[in-house]
Amino acid sequence: MEKTNTIQGIEQKVEAILSQMTLEQKVGQMTQTERMSISPEEVKRYHIGSVLSGGGSCPGSNTPGDWVAMNDAYWAASVESDEKHLSIPIIYGVDAIHGHNNVLGATIFPHNIGLGAANDPVLLEKIAKVTAREILATGVEWTFAPTLAVARNNQWGRTYESYSEDPEIVKAYAGRFVKGLQNNLGRDAVIACVKHWVGDGGTTYGIDQGDTRISEDELTRLHISPYYPALAEGVLTVMASFNSWNGDKCHGHKYLLTDILKDELGFEGFIISDWDGIDYLDEDYSKTIAMGVNAGIDMFMVSEKWKTFIEHLLVHVRNGRVPMERIDDAVRRILFVKIKYGLFERPRPAERFWSNHDSFGSKEHREVAREAVRKSLVLLKNENNILPLNKTARIIVAGKNANDCGHQCGGFTIAWQGVSDNDSIVKRVSEENASSTYGGEVGVQKGSIVGGTSIWQGIQAVAPNATLSIDGRAADSAKHDVGIVVIGETPYAEGMGDIRSGDNTIVEMGSYIKGLLKVLSPYGRSLTLNELHPEDLIAIKNITDQGIPAVVVLVSGRTLIIEKELAASTAFVAAWLPGSEGQGIADVLFGDYDFQGKLSFTWQKKEGENFLRGDENYEPLFPYGYGLQYSNQD
Ligand code: BGC
Repeated sequence: MEKTNTIQGIEQKVEAILSQMTLEQKVGQMTQTERMSISPEEVKRYHIGSVLSGGGSCPGSNTPGDWVAMNDAYWAASVESDEKHLSIPIIYGVDAIHGHNNVLGATIFPHNIGLGAANDPVLLEKIAKVTAREILATGVEWTFAPTLAVARNNQWGRTYESYSEDPEIVKAYAGRFVKGLQNNLGRDAVIACVKHWVGDGGTTYGIDQGDTRISEDELTRLHISPYYPALAEGVLTVMASFNSWNGDKCHGHKYLLTDILKDELGFEGFIISDWDGIDYLDEDYSKTIAMGVNAGIDMFMVSEKWKTFIEHLLVHVRNGRVPMERIDDAVRRILFVKIKYGLFERPRPAERFWSNHDSFGSKEHREVAREAVRKSLVLLKNENNILPLNKTARIIVAGKNANDCGHQCGGFTIAWQGVSDNDSIVKRVSEENASSTYGGEVGVQKGSIVGGTSIWQGIQAVAPNATLSIDGRAADSAKHDVGIVVIGETPYAEGMGDIRSGDNTIVEMGSYIKGLLKVLSPYGRSLTLNELHPEDLIAIKNITDQGIPAVVVLVSGRTLIIEKELAASTAFVAAWLPGSEGQGIADVLFGDYDFQGKLSFTWQKKEGENFLRGDENYEPLFPYGYGLQYSNQD
């Protein structure tokens, strides 16, 4: 591919395009909307810069071919040129945050919390490369990943999107992941987006979109520092965060967005807002637009009301409330990213090298995910060296997460909030039941993970004498030598995963924030597993009450209070949210591979405690860095 790769060359090209653009075209480039809200024809008419898929939003039957066709249509509209429209290709954005997780049949990697436990930057680059190829297989150019949050309170529903509570691992991963995605910006590259700038993991009580109340030194040390290696690697986009810093929302924070990120750290790409993220700056929507642009946001993710956004922004510029220089700066940055990525030289999506490529969801890709699963598992307890298990043992496998690919993948898989079931059959639904989406030929019932194996299927493949009894009631000491009980959380995403002990915390939180606080219904009121999921201990006891020892495997997006389940177990493994390759768990339980994972999060002993690495009087249940191995046990 021919590339305009010198900075000078890029700048000249940017200026050449900018000088031909009308204000409407510039404002259009600054607008991104969701695919359900816009047709290809409107992309052209309004000169739209980008279209995205929100969590779970997919075209047609959700195959790579459907995605390529969709993006091809948007692209074709964007590059038409006539007296009203300038040919500028759109970029399409997705949340491929653990593989290309919206698409049926994609390879689903462990969520970041598990990758943090693996502590393996080389593996991270490999994962990023595979993810980039699967994104490219669908004709898409841009992913809103990696998340560089440093989650400081497990009550936060997005803890699993964070590699660690400590910046050390996040820093070690940030550059490698961006490098793997952006891949020298050649044929195999997608545009990366580090998020959420900044302090998303530091909110009080772990409230999603809440307030991070810390000094600037602490903000820099904990939450800004992971961005340095990503910026050094040339990350092309950054997403602003919903949270506030000491009461001021990041989406309107000129100091953080412009003075620090762009001026001090020299970020040359563009800042995208989060999903309707400016809306919470003020009750007056028009005002929020001026606040966001003037603070330094360059492109706006507007889920539906993008026409209103465009109208108001045009008025602000004409009235001088938003200076023309700011608009030009934003558009320069957007064009810079598009040109630097080589978008103008890339063929239409349908003709790109990786589009519809056979490697999508392939065995080769799944092997990388399986390796990641093996490396992410953390062994917390192994009494009497019960692990590794013998493959010929008579095993009873139980627990609600034993045979559920949806649960083991967690949130942001097929649907925004994730899916439940182990259904590998894509079911067509009748046209009249299907909602109308762009492209018309809607038709898949969502809720299926296609490809991969459940944890049970992985065990079954290597242990011929294993049987499945989800509630464990089939346990019989005459028939079973050992139980494997797979327990834990069910899928959630964002604020819906928060643990909120009381409404007063929200009120207290909201009183610090200038602007509106979006309140979502939380996952539960307690981090204690037995309160969230009492069925788990029952399944374990159904086995141990028969005198059969239990190996417990916890599927969860965070560390939980596990006092009772741990006490009832003989061995205990934290598997996090391993994704589609459940076999990786059997690989380690049966000793084909040793455990390698070490906690990248402190494991709390009691409800209400929040020990973090480096604290004085640090007395958790298991410290940061903990993890047993077969090779060095007594
Ligand atoms: C999330 C972002 C995500 C965006 C687009 C928002 O709700 O906070 O992380 O990239 O949606 O789906």
